[in-house]
Amino acid sequence: MTSRWTERQREMLGAMGVRVFETPHAEVLTPDRPEPVEGQTRADRNTPVPAQPLRQAQGERVVQVAQTRSDIATLDWPALRAAVSECRACALCESRTQTVFGVGHERARLMIVGEAPGENEDRQGEPFVGQAGKLLDNMLRAIGLARDAATPEQGVFICNTLKCRPPRNRNPDPAETARCAPYLDRQIELVQPKLLLAMGRFAAQALLGSDEAIGKLRGRVHERRGVKVIVTYHPAYLLRTLADKARAWDDLCLAASVLELPS
Ligand code: URA
Repeated sequence: MTSRWTERQREMLGAMGVRVFETPHAEVLTPDRPEPVEGQTRADRNTPVPAQPLRQAQGERVVQVAQTRSDIATLDWPALRAAVSECRACALCESRTQTVFGVGHERARLMIVGEAPGENEDRQGEPFVGQAGKLLDNMLRAIGLARDAATPEQGVFICNTLKCRPPRNRNPDPAETARCAPYLDRQIELVQPKLLLAMGRFAAQALLGSDEAIGKLRGRVHERRGVKVIVTYHPAYLLRTLADKARAWDDLCLAASVLELPS
């Protein structure tokens, strides 16, 4: 059986605890990426396409790296990082520079979920490093938290709903969000935060499954699978809409009180 993995890659994945299956008949998440069509540019191929259902590959050799939901649900941090970095479950893998896994304390009491990497994040491999990220860091500092703090109490884990940048920063496609959801779910399970802070509509949708506007969801404490959730405005929106900064501050104070942070 031929393998798409080199010996070195196999050793590396093995060392990280990632199981590599090569079976003639395996259930796989197939990339929802259309086959190239003559005359079509790479950019054309990266426009959103409808999700394909899980497919039973018949008679073809399939490499599967922790791509099913149940596989992902068992991964530890190194294996999860490796699975995300290798992910080809949707078309975004074609246009990304790299995946953006997340950053911060792995047992932080506060976990922040944004939308998706932008241009800077795609280049640097870290979430919220552009202007919106600077605002987020300032907001966190205001309640005594920091992405590089050494303790779960003062630290924070920051990640996004999507681990890859949508081309031209377009909105996440629901199919992309669904494909990425097992990674976010596993991150939440591993961090075990006391509080999730959803920043923006897409994070709120991903965490709460609600289509309601941020204005309706913010200002109160929700619950997701036993974990408290607060919804607030996205920092990029706040950069454009100064009038809502005071509301975001109220949300942050609510988060601080749930976390019982010293005032
Ligand atoms: N916006 C997000 O939602 N996430 C990032 O990482 C950067 C900008």
